[in-house]
Amino acid sequence: VFEHVEQAPEDPILGVTVAYNKDPSPIKVNLGVGAYRTEEGKPVILNVVRKAEERLLADRSRYKEYLPITGLADFNKLSAKLIFGKESPALLEKRVATAQCLSGTGSLRVGAEFLAKHYFQRLVFLPAPTWGNHHKIFSNGGLTVKTYRYYDPRTRGLDYQGMVEDIRAAPSGSLILLHACAHNPTGVDPTPEQWEGLRQLIRNKRHLPFFDSAYQGFASGSLDLDALAVRSFVADGGELLVAQSFAKNMGLYGERVGSLSIVCKKEAIATHVESQLKLVIRPMYSNPPIHGASIVATILGDSELYAEWTIELKAMANRIISMRHQLHSAIQARGTPGDWTHILKQIGMFSFTGLNREQVAFMTKEYHIYMTSDGRISMAGLSSKTVPHLADAIHAAVTG
Ligand code: LMR
Repeated sequence: VFEHVEQAPEDPILGVTVAYNKDPSPIKVNLGVGAYRTEEGKPVILNVVRKAEERLLADRSRYKEYLPITGLADFNKLSAKLIFGKESPALLEKRVATAQCLSGTGSLRVGAEFLAKHYFQRLVFLPAPTWGNHHKIFSNGGLTVKTYRYYDPRTRGLDYQGMVEDIRAAPSGSLILLHACAHNPTGVDPTPEQWEGLRQLIRNKRHLPFFDSAYQGFASGSLDLDALAVRSFVADGGELLVAQSFAKNMGLYGERVGSLSIVCKKEAIATHVESQLKLVIRPMYSNPPIHGASIVATILGDSELYAEWTIELKAMANRIISMRHQLHSAIQARGTPGDWTHILKQIGMFSFTGLNREQVAFMTKEYHIYMTSDGRISMAGLSSKTVPHLADAIHAAVTG
């Protein structure tokens, strides 16, 4: 009965790792998926995560019981506090509904399904380009996906004018997906002044913003600075949604821990919204897993662990920035034609190199460098040892 089923293509991002794993070459480098690696090219478990796990293990009063449908209550409170800030008016007024979900993807998907059921406007506008999974998450969630101009390949910067025009032209009440910081894949973020312009425009048009916050702490190294855009939309008293992920900033990729928060006008509305989120979640996966959320709640709820986390997070962010400098210098040292300053200017885990599909294919074939075909490289996967090899590959791809 399944003879007609065709082979599906690999995922454009996770498929890069599949191809990398198959390559026997000793010089291969995986710069595809956005996952942090040490200078030795190894994945890392943060010290604070180990400490939190030790505490959890030692506590004999803990069980592996089902969590409530919306997850661990402490985690939800602390996660919302992290993104909105502890003095947030929306939190003080108890008008936020938060549900622990399966990392960023799960939070976005639950949000999309809730919106498809309860929001009058089905149109969601995504930046062009955006993280590839966004398109499928929102269309499978029941919304109609459109895009707004975001990145200008000529300047390798933000097409602010185009972005404003497209958001202005969108039908009133449209959902606008915004990357809270460290835009994936471009590494290009609006300036604070541009954010303010966008906020006014989105509010004037009565659009509904949906933030994807996957890199809090990774853009600037400061958890508060990276939350400023989201917080400015909360400060104006309006509604919004935000999906948070702890995959990158706590290195909890495989624990699938994140949250969806919906900021409402009043406490009673937030209560209703939360009750409806349960109806979305229960038939989808019943309730979320307990371990990752317990780790996050332990770290966020303990001032000592929290302080230690911010130091480890900053060290990861700094190593990525140092990779930007090293790669830029190595490209300059080779005299590779073109302006490569965007590698220094871009923010977060990725660099959007400007290399085209053919150049990427060449680098994979000849240099065993694995990256997404849009020319994005994960700076977090690079190390001092692999920078010269990457610079050689880029030079050959550009000059060849
Ligand atoms: C990425 O863009 O590489 C990450 O967000 C990982 C993923 O799930 O695609």
